[in-house]
Amino acid sequence: MNHQPRTKDRAEGSGRPASFTVIGHRGARGHAPENTLLAMDTAIRMGAPWIEFDVQLHESGALLVFHDLTLDRTTDGHGLLAEQPLGMLRALDAGQGQEIPTLEEVLDLVEQQVGVNIELKTAGGTGEAVAGVIRNYLNAGWPPEKFLVSSFHLPELWEFKQLAPEIPIGALICGVPLDWAACAVELGASVLSLSSEFVDPRLIEDAHQHGIQVYVYTVNDPNELRALRRLGVDGVFSDFPDIALKVAAEG
Ligand code: G3P
Ligand code: MG
Repeated sequence: MNHQPRTKDRAEGSGRPASFTVIGHRGARGHAPENTLLAMDTAIRMGAPWIEFDVQLHESGALLVFHDLTLDRTTDGHGLLAEQPLGMLRALDAGQGQEIPTLEEVLDLVEQQVGVNIELKTAGGTGEAVAGVIRNYLNAGWPPEKFLVSSFHLPELWEFKQLAPEIPIGALICGVPLDWAACAVELGASVLSLSSEFVDPRLIEDAHQHGIQVYVYTVNDPNELRALRRLGVDGVFSDFPDIALKVAAEG
């Protein structure tokens, strides 16, 4: 097996992409309680063209916008989210009096103003449930390009793609795979999202050679943002979309 990137040459002048997509991470997590409607609204008001948030399928069938498996860090609750009834979860304070929102509540707030990157945090039916919700919004007039569905759980993402093939997907990885961007290619992903700890120019090159955009999470420092632009990264997830937008505007 050849573990070099499968194509060697990058197009000349491709070092810095024309566009640099700024994605508000968990809304605008640096300015408001993460994954709340307030955080989403803050990111939108700051001018972020995209917001990212995490979704978990609860046994009630609700799709809850929440990052951790446990409640302690970001709410006044305790223990595993999955072990609590929906009514109790919805009564928690997720910061500044905010509730844990549902996927539908976030989409209704967004009203197509920005793109939404829905990260599937749980497996076992989350992709199917999200595909069902997205189908309702497509039927209501949302264009598929307003969505990006992503996951670290690549089989769950594959399941989603079978049910909603018109929706762009993003493969999330935390590391540098032996076969470079192959997982994203096999999934038919539009985006490969990398951890900032594992940004390798050969991985970026391989993704680009396959027509796949590269995003990096989570980047808040202006100098790191500039360095990633120089490397040819296409977008970043930032807790401070205002800072990332300023760097993107530097041209
Ligand atoms: O989707 C990018 C980023 O959100 C992935 O990591 O842990 O913040 O969900 P995490
Ligand atoms: Mg996330």
